[in-house]
Amino acid sequence: KAAEPATPASGAASGSTASTDGTAYTVSFDASYAPFEYQDDKGNVIGFSKDVIEAVGQKAGIKFQFVNKPWEGIFETLNTGDSDVISSSVTITDERKAQMDFSEPYFEATQMIAVNDAKGSDIKSFEDLKKGKHLVSVQTGTTGDIVSQKLLGKDSTQIKRFESMPLALKELLASGVDASVGDNGVVQNFVTNNPDAKLRTIVDPTFEKEHYGFAVKKGRSDDLLQKINTGLAGIKSDGTYDKIYAKWFKA
Ligand code: ARG
Repeated sequence: KAAEPATPASGAASGSTASTDGTAYTVSFDASYAPFEYQDDKGNVIGFSKDVIEAVGQKAGIKFQFVNKPWEGIFETLNTGDSDVISSSVTITDERKAQMDFSEPYFEATQMIAVNDAKGSDIKSFEDLKKGKHLVSVQTGTTGDIVSQKLLGKDSTQIKRFESMPLALKELLASGVDASVGDNGVVQNFVTNNPDAKLRTIVDPTFEKEHYGFAVKKGRSDDLLQKINTGLAGIKSDGTYDKIYAKWFKA
């Protein structure tokens, strides 16, 4: 199932405002995030999160249109009206909850470190990044960025930020950094797809559980979020969610 992540395409035109009249709600993602939301060879966006939100829409009887957008600035598109929903493997955090509203969780994740032994052979734990003054790549503004800042300091020159996770991971392959920190599913997928690269993974015991949720504009007063939650509960209880999970995570 593991597929090579595609580089992000620039966002297509959207123009939303939905949907009491039957028009579609705009769902946005950074589709460079295999196996959650990414592009296949033909440029179609596929992935676990994509399947889940599509099934939610079907269950809840709501229509979605999908738009690829860069991760940076994606949350703001809820406020500008360019997106109704962000479905981009977004971790629900207290800080983000102050800015937007989230659905119930649809996936559990944690951070994972990928190490390139070319320069990171002494890295056995998250702390070791600090001790060894190692360079670490992250995707800007992700929870991987946030935990790395907590360890190394907000302005640490050890943190190399990239606009997409594939770019952060390619830098690791090229030995431009010694380690990368990101969501376990995506990091593991990349390591599995690059068996010749001698990459190693670590899940540090200090890494907390994270939960992905679908985000909507804070205080949104129509019942979109409620419909999403109803749809999600529906696909969890009728077996659809489990089928999607098995499709992507159990070969
Ligand atoms: N779960 C992480 C976060 O919320 C990373 C999500 C990045 N998603 C993406 N499609 N690039 O910060």
